[in-house]
Amino acid sequence: MTNQVKIFDTTLRDGEQALPASLSAKEKLQIALALERLGVDIIEAGFPVSSPGDFKSVQLIAREIKNATVCGLARAVKADIDACGQALSVADHFRIHTFIATSEIHVGAKLRKSQDEVVEMAVAAVKHARQYTDDVEFSCEDAGRTHIDYLCKMVEAAINAGATTVNIPDTVGYTTPTEFGGIITNLYNRVPNIDKATISVHCHNDLGLAVANSLAAVEAGARQVECTLNGIGERAGNCSLEEIAMILQTRQAMLGLSTNINSTEISRSSKLVSQLCNMPVQANKAIVGANAFSHSSGIHQDGVLKAQNTYEIMTPESVGINKNNLNLTSRSGRHVIKHRLTELGYKTEDYDLEAIYKSFLQLADTKGTVYDYDLEALLFFDQQKHEE
Ligand code: KIV
Ligand code: ZN
Repeated sequence: MTNQVKIFDTTLRDGEQALPASLSAKEKLQIALALERLGVDIIEAGFPVSSPGDFKSVQLIAREIKNATVCGLARAVKADIDACGQALSVADHFRIHTFIATSEIHVGAKLRKSQDEVVEMAVAAVKHARQYTDDVEFSCEDAGRTHIDYLCKMVEAAINAGATTVNIPDTVGYTTPTEFGGIITNLYNRVPNIDKATISVHCHNDLGLAVANSLAAVEAGARQVECTLNGIGERAGNCSLEEIAMILQTRQAMLGLSTNINSTEISRSSKLVSQLCNMPVQANKAIVGANAFSHSSGIHQDGVLKAQNTYEIMTPESVGINKNNLNLTSRSGRHVIKHRLTELGYKTEDYDLEAIYKSFLQLADTKGTVYDYDLEALLFFDQQKHEE
């Protein structure tokens, strides 16, 4: 089995469908170009049958993107697959992603079909999609809540029908990592033709486990992760691209897996998505939050000044951020004050560190964060005192 994990980005499909205002075709193309620079393997550009606007933007992206496979979503019905095939046919190589629900609740209450009828629909859809392309992905919607016997049957049938990727979504973010990893292990143990397809996972974040579940799945053998930038998506969102990519990169020695992601493009791409989608990123969000590379505790600041990896498991540069940020607060020590003054161009003989530190603490206790201009003002007043 390969140790390369494909990154399938669905920011423009699962992410975009959850936004209060839709993106224009031009904005979607801007995001697609950022995803291409980032090195994602597959860009799910949209759901062509859903609206003329979506059809056009999928077509535009398929025409412009050269270094990633462009993909469109289709329910397991002919008209959806035809719309996908037509929108994507401008690309040299493209993927059709067709899906149908497999859990008891979805099959019974939503589709109102028998399990056998649903298998037939899936098989027909995959075969129809294969008439447009040899790159067909099939998803078992709500796989996380699907009985394992039926899931095995469905996966086997989809592969026999010609699916080259089979996706196992935890559509409602219900499973736990051990449970979800177990589903993938079970599929590998029980589906006879499983080696003929790439097993993919698509996890939602309703219990905050989308990334953990995706990781458990790749540890169990899945080799494609579906994700979105900043984790945007339905309800609590999807597995976050930047988090899964940086887990695989930072812990590569332990996991033995890699991706094609150029991690130095992460910060810039995250900001673009946040701005265009009007979705602010929480400050403490892993990898791309404003505080992800900020240190506030004096002990931590002293540590990173001595050796950066005391409190940083990856460098800010590795995700495209210039440098870390040492917040000057009442928890900061003399070491960081001296360091910041040096960065600002002052020599140690220019000031009395003890005196500056004393006034710094007084100010920090009342103000909270002390900025560079505050520090320079303290220095100025201290120098004036000496001149009097
Ligand atoms: O969450 C889900 O199940 C989906 C499918 C269409 C893959 O988004
Ligand atoms: Zn989804």
